[in-house]
Amino acid sequence: MEQMKKISDSVIEMVELVLPNDVNLLRNLKGGQLMHWIDIAAALTASKHSGRIVATVSMDSLDFKHPIRLGEMVKLIATLVSVGNTSMKIKVNVWAENLQTGSVIMTNEASLVFVALDENGRPTRVPRLCE
Ligand SMILES: CC(C)(COP(=O)(O)OP(=O)(O)OC[C@H]1O[C@@H](n2cnc3c(N)ncnc32)[C@H](O)[C@@H]1OP(=O)(O)O)[C@@H](O)C(=O)NCCC(=O)NCCS
Repeated sequence: MEQMKKISDSVIEMVELVLPNDVNLLRNLKGGQLMHWIDIAAALTASKHSGRIVATVSMDSLDFKHPIRLGEMVKLIATLVSVGNTSMKIKVNVWAENLQTGSVIMTNEASLVFVALDENGRPTRVPRLCE
């Protein structure tokens, strides 16, 4: 019988701290560093759903709504949106928390597509969604 999984089975929450090497001249988190963290969080969700090594095939969108500052805590939540035969669409929401003031703000939204790969590096089927 075909394997089925829930969206909630593969939600990933990842937390990072913005350190001096991560920022630009304005002391804001560099876009490339954020893209790296988004890619890792989404890849973990895709791997958890598929039980496979996965490859990023597309970063469809990445919206920057607010800058993230040096010293802030960054929380990324990656959630499966839909599955195809071998592909998985994943959204990543990003929040920044100022640990001194306690203020939390949603800073970014991203959408990515991953493909599950078999032992030979070829696309392979992923479990259906049951919710
Ligand atoms: C991932 C890879 C093996 C897929 O090979 P491929 O020959 O394109 O495979 P297919 O054409 O069968 O496509 C596989 C799936 O990906 C989807 N896909 C391919 N390119 C896509 C894109 N740009 N956007 C969205 N989906 C895409 C296809 O629709 C298909 O989905 P489905 O099986 O759910 O219907 C190949 O594209 C690859 O190696 N790309 C480079 C990956 C990489 O280096 N990533 C960065 C580091 S992880």
